[in-house]
Amino acid sequence: METREVISTGLGLCIGRMTEHDLLEVVEIEEATGLSVWGWDAYHKELQSPEDVIMLVATNAMTDSIPGRKVAGFIISRLVAGELHINNVAVRPEVRRRGVGARLLAAVLSHGRSQAARLAFLEVSAGALSAVWVSSGGTAEGLLCSAG
Ligand SMILES: CC(C)(COP(=O)(O)OP(=O)(O)OC[C@H]1O[C@@H](n2cnc3c(N)ncnc32)[C@H](O)[C@@H]1OP(=O)(O)O)[C@@H](O)C(=O)NCCC(=O)NCCS
Repeated sequence: METREVISTGLGLCIGRMTEHDLLEVVEIEEATGLSVWGWDAYHKELQSPEDVIMLVATNAMTDSIPGRKVAGFIISRLVAGELHINNVAVRPEVRRRGVGARLLAAVLSHGRSQAARLAFLEVSAGALSAVWVSSGGTAEGLLCSAG
């Protein structure tokens, strides 16, 4: 069994690196959100280039109550020329509004800072997400916002 690299824990939530074992649940969450569909193959391909891509999942006690499910949400971002591009973030509908999205965003921003990223781009324009961004320590400047 592949061991997950844990990024942070707290408040019953564990944020760690996505592994191949998470992909079926990640695709399930993606399909439940109505996001543009990447699908298993695209996520799997991204997992093969860990140097510039950070793919995280949130697992927690909340999803333990959903039989057979471990992943509460996920986020995917890529570091390009000192810029952190956040491509995709989604949380299982059953466990929204409990801070999972905010923790995922905070974790990738922290990673970006550790890699000396100068800017972070949230490459979406969802109203809910801009609220999560502010709540997780972004600035009111909006979705295109400094990570530093
Ligand atoms: C956007 C999304 C990731 C948020 O995840 P979440 O775990 O519910 O977010 P959080 O619980 O961390 O929310 C933190 C704050 O963001 C704001 N927020 C979150 N969802 C919101 C909504 N639907 N409407 C208004 N504000 C919202 C609130 O201020 C919230 O704090 P509060 O609950 O204390 O009021 C989730 O709603 C989702 O998966 N949506 C579908 C996929 C999507 O649109 N992804 C973005 C495009 S890639």
